[in-house]
Amino acid sequence: MTNLREIGIRAGLALGVSIAAVNAAASEPTTPPVPPQFPAEGKIKYVTRDSILEFKALPEYREPDWVTKNFVETGKLPPVKDRLPKEPLVFKTENMPDGIGVYGDTMRHVIGGRPEGWNYGAGQTQGWGGIDIGLSECLTRTAPLFQIEAKDTEPLPNLAKSWEWSEDGHKLTMHLIEGAKWSDGDPFDADDIMFYWEDEVIDPNVSPLGGGASPEAFGEGTVLKKIDAYTVEWTFKEAFPKQYLYTMAYPNFCPGPSHLLKPQHPKYSKNTYNQFKNAFPPEFLNMPVMGGWVPVEYRSDDIIVMRRNPYYWKVDEEGNQLPYLNELHYKLSTWADRDVQAVAGSGDISNLEQPENFVASLKRAAEETAPARLAFGPRLIGYNLRMNFSANGWGDPDPRGQAIRELNRNEDFRKAITMAVDRKALGDSLVKGPFTAIYPGGLVSGTSFYDRNSVVYYPHDLESAKGLLEKVGLKDTDGDGFVNFPAGTEGGKNVEIVLLVNNGYSTDKSLAEGIVGQMEKLGLKIIINALDGPKRDDAHYSGRFDWLIQRNTTELASVVQSTEQLAPVGPRTSWHHRAGKDGKLDLMPYEEELADIINKFRTSQDNDERVALMKQYQKTATENVDTVGLTEYPGALIINKRFSNVPQGTPIFMFNWAEDSVIRERLWVAADKQGKYELFPEQLPGKPGENGPIN
Ligand code: GLA
Ligand code: CA
Repeated sequence: MTNLREIGIRAGLALGVSIAAVNAAASEPTTPPVPPQFPAEGKIKYVTRDSILEFKALPEYREPDWVTKNFVETGKLPPVKDRLPKEPLVFKTENMPDGIGVYGDTMRHVIGGRPEGWNYGAGQTQGWGGIDIGLSECLTRTAPLFQIEAKDTEPLPNLAKSWEWSEDGHKLTMHLIEGAKWSDGDPFDADDIMFYWEDEVIDPNVSPLGGGASPEAFGEGTVLKKIDAYTVEWTFKEAFPKQYLYTMAYPNFCPGPSHLLKPQHPKYSKNTYNQFKNAFPPEFLNMPVMGGWVPVEYRSDDIIVMRRNPYYWKVDEEGNQLPYLNELHYKLSTWADRDVQAVAGSGDISNLEQPENFVASLKRAAEETAPARLAFGPRLIGYNLRMNFSANGWGDPDPRGQAIRELNRNEDFRKAITMAVDRKALGDSLVKGPFTAIYPGGLVSGTSFYDRNSVVYYPHDLESAKGLLEKVGLKDTDGDGFVNFPAGTEGGKNVEIVLLVNNGYSTDKSLAEGIVGQMEKLGLKIIINALDGPKRDDAHYSGRFDWLIQRNTTELASVVQSTEQLAPVGPRTSWHHRAGKDGKLDLMPYEEELADIINKFRTSQDNDERVALMKQYQKTATENVDTVGLTEYPGALIINKRFSNVPQGTPIFMFNWAEDSVIRERLWVAADKQGKYELFPEQLPGKPGENGPIN
C-alpha cells in the first residue's frame, strides 16, 4: 500500500502528470480523453453473495457482561435470547476480514450537517454522514454489494429475510424477520411496513428523506398488501421487476416506528402535516430505531451520542449480539473538519471526497505514526451542472426564470454551455495531479456499466460556444460584456442565471466559482445562490433553481441503485426535470428516449441487453447534454487503524456510502487498542422522549 500511496503523493504534490492536450478539431464531438491512471489502492476481495449472512437460530446468545449484570439480572431487561428474533440475522465469520470480535469502544464521526429531527419518513435530515443510514434499517441492503461480482449481484436480505416470486413474476411475497423488536422493545412487524407505504410513500403530503421514495420509484400501479404480521405481498404491473429490490434498500424503504409515528400522522390525529413532520425534534431522545445504536444525547452545534440498541436483531456465528461497538459519536462540525480530524486521530472515519484536502491528508497518512489508514478507490465521485428543464411550472418561476427554462431546453444553448466549460482547468483548480478527469456527464468512468466509446464529448471551444449563443439569439446589445435577451424577451435585459450551490462543501463552491468565471468568458452572467444543506435541498426538490451544481448521487456510480433517477420516468424521479403544477412532465423528445431506455433497463432480465441499454443511455444523455458534466475523481476512505473487520477496498461511494459499506455493526476494536471515548459507559437507551440513557 505504501508504494501506491507514495505514487499518489508524488503525483499529487509536485509532478502534476500532464494530460495530453485534447486535439480534436474544434466543436467536433468526440470521446473523452482516457482518464489519467490512478491506481486504486484497496483491491476489493470479491466474494459470493451467500457468503455474507444468513438467518438462523443459534443454540445460545451472548451480550456484553455489563448488560446482563446491570440490566437483565436487575429485571430491567428480558434475557438476550428473548430480545432477539426467532431467527436473527447472522453474519458469517468467513466474510469477516478479521473474524469474530470483542465488545467495547466508540466510533467517533464528525459531520458537517445538523439534525432537523428524527422523522426520517417525513423527510427530516439527521445531518448526514451516516447517521440516518445507521438508524434506519431497510427491507433490503445493498451497500456491501461492492464486493460481489456484477453477475451475482442482488440486494441482500435485511428486514425482509427472504422473498419469492409468483410463477408469472407479478407478485413478490416478502417474509419479514419474525419476533424482532424496536429499540424500545415494541414489536416490529408488517404494520410498520404498511404505515410507511400507505401513510408516507403514497400520501402525497409526505415525502421521505432524499425525495426518491415516491410510489413510481417502485413502478407505476404497484400495490403492497399485508398478508399477516410477518408477510407482505407486492403486486407489480411488470413481470419479475427485480430492480425494485434495490429500491427497497436505503434510502427508499426504511420504515420508522409506527407505534410512535402513527398517532402523530394527520390521518389519525388533529395534527397538520407540518406538525407531524416536526413531532420528533432532535431533543426528542431515545427515538426507537431498528439500527444498532439509539440517539441518547443531543447538544446543539456540539454532538449527538448514540448507545447500543439492546434489541438489535443481528448476531455473529457465536451468538454474540451485535453491535460490537458500544457507542457512536457524531460531532457537529464541518465536512472539511471530518477529514482533518480523521487523519489527526481525533475522529475515526471520513470519506475523503473534497479534492482540496487530498494532498494534506495523503501527506499525513503516509507518516509511520499516522493513526488512520487512507486508501483510494475507483473514480466514482462526479459533479454535474444541471439545468431546470421544466417549462410548465415546477418551482413556479417568474418571467425571467421562465425565459431561462426555455433557454435550458434549447439544444444549441446547452451545447454552447458544455463547450464553454474548461474541465481540465476546473479539475486542476481543485487539486493538481492524476486525480480529476474530464467528465462530460452521464455515468462516471468508475462504474461497471461505463463505456467510453458511448460518451459524446464536446471539447472545450470558446469560439464555437460563442457562435452557438449567437445562433440562439443571445447577443451583447449594450456592450457590457454580457449577452442580452432578444428585444422581445425580458425587455432585452442581460441574461442572468442563478446557480444553486451547497454551502457546506468547499468543492461545490470552488466548482461554482469556476463556472462563474468560465461563463463570464462566454458572455453569460451567473449569480451564485449558496445555501446550507437542508435549504439547498428544499430549493432543489421544489424546483426553485435555474441551474444547480450537484455531487452525483448513487445512480451514476452504481446504475442499479436508484436507477429511476437516471431519467424522468415518473413525475418526481429526475433531479432536474419534475412535473409542473398540473402533475405532468413536459418532456423533450430525447428525454422520452431516456425514459424508455431506463424503463426497459428496470424490467430487463437479460444482462447483455442491460449493458447495451446503458450504452444507449450514455450516448443519448451526453449527445443531448442532459447534464453538463464537470469533473470526476476517486475518493479515499480514511479510517482509524484500531478498527478491525474493515473490508478491504471499501469504496467511499458505490451502492451506498462507506458508512454502510463497512458494515458498522460488525466493526470491533481489540481490547488492548480500545480508547476511553465512551461518554455513557455501561448505560443503555432510555424510554422514547425521556431525557438521556438509563443505567
Ligand atoms: C454526506 C457526506 C458523505 C457521506 C454522506 C452519508 O453527504 O458528504 O461523505 O458521509 O453524507 O449520507
Ligand atoms: Ca449586455
